[in-house]
Amino acid sequence: TETNLSSNKAYPRMLNTNYLKAALGEVICPPPVWVMRQAGRYLPEFREVREKYDFFKVCQTPELACQITLQPIDRYDGLLDAAIIFSDILVIPQAMGMEVQMLPSKGPHFPCPLISPEDLNKLRMPVVKDVLSYVFEAITLTRHRLNGRVPLIGFSGAPWTLMAYMIEGGGSKTFSKAKAWLYRYPSESKQLLAKLSSVIADYIVEQVLAGAQAIQLFDSWAGELSPKLYKEFGIPFLEEIVTVFRKKLIDAQITERIPLTLFCKGAHSSLKDLSDLDIDVLGLDYTMEAIEASKNITKRICLQGNLDPCALFAETETLKELTNENLKEFDSVGLPHIVNLGHGM
Ligand code: CP3
Repeated sequence: TETNLSSNKAYPRMLNTNYLKAALGEVICPPPVWVMRQAGRYLPEFREVREKYDFFKVCQTPELACQITLQPIDRYDGLLDAAIIFSDILVIPQAMGMEVQMLPSKGPHFPCPLISPEDLNKLRMPVVKDVLSYVFEAITLTRHRLNGRVPLIGFSGAPWTLMAYMIEGGGSKTFSKAKAWLYRYPSESKQLLAKLSSVIADYIVEQVLAGAQAIQLFDSWAGELSPKLYKEFGIPFLEEIVTVFRKKLIDAQITERIPLTLFCKGAHSSLKDLSDLDIDVLGLDYTMEAIEASKNITKRICLQGNLDPCALFAETETLKELTNENLKEFDSVGLPHIVNLGHGM
């Protein structure tokens, strides 16, 4: 079947829809596979491109982003069941006017992070379709170049994780600055989270209109919040995004169900609340157990995950055993499964 035929651009016929089928509730045997951060530094061909160009320059150049997205699909021809567009979650803070650099061996760095609520005035509400047009162009190009081999996943960071980066100015061990906002400035924090949610909802709708066939939201720092804080500052904004996303797709006359995955790393106590949202797939990280997770969720939903990325350092035989154990555990749950790591490669 033709997935996401938007307006008058005809996309190539899909040859492998296992990822989409599993995401929409079918048990597929063997289950489909993709890998978070499958286009990244472990690939020599990725490092070769990165030697020549700045990280965000690659994100902003559709031809390069497309080329990198296809690298793992070509190298592991026939073994992966989905591609994820090459980009980064931090393009949203950039679109809102913040400078972000990618420092070699240090990761993302914001020279001027948000320090106090007055800094919220410096953020602009972008016209997403224009400011992030390079992402949408990369998606359309990649959808065509994939030639139907596998579906293309679009993604965004979730509000709390983006807020955490915008305040911390980069990675953090404790997230104490961002969490201090939640305790000291709860209403201004919610203003920021609401702004982010509105931008994110537009962003993932535009990705679908550009040819993305599924969406994943990354809430990488969900587990840094207490269950109570996550229920107040995390989940309501995810709910808002999901509601607006579904509504805007209907308004845009996209009638097919676009699978939505939530990957909320460390959100053990919130799995039930997350599964209650209008989503299709729940991503499990490597600290979660499929059996335990399935007991918490209240409706039939696909589970994605969750081999520990560091298991890839094991001897090959051990890695095979660990993989088989992981498959068996998900199999025993009886829900649809998408095989993945429990965090990025
Ligand atoms: O999964 C994919 O292959 C798609 C591309 C993708 C990237 N980043 C490319 C990238 C995706 C989905 C992301 C999401 C992302 N970015 C997250 C959420 C997922 C997660 O890991 O929890 C986060 C937190 C970021 C922010 C970010 N970007 C960090 C912390 C870093 C540096 C550390 C690291 O893991 O590399 C990046 C850089 C980044 N994003 C690289 C890639 C391929 C490496 C950049 C380089 O070449 O130096």
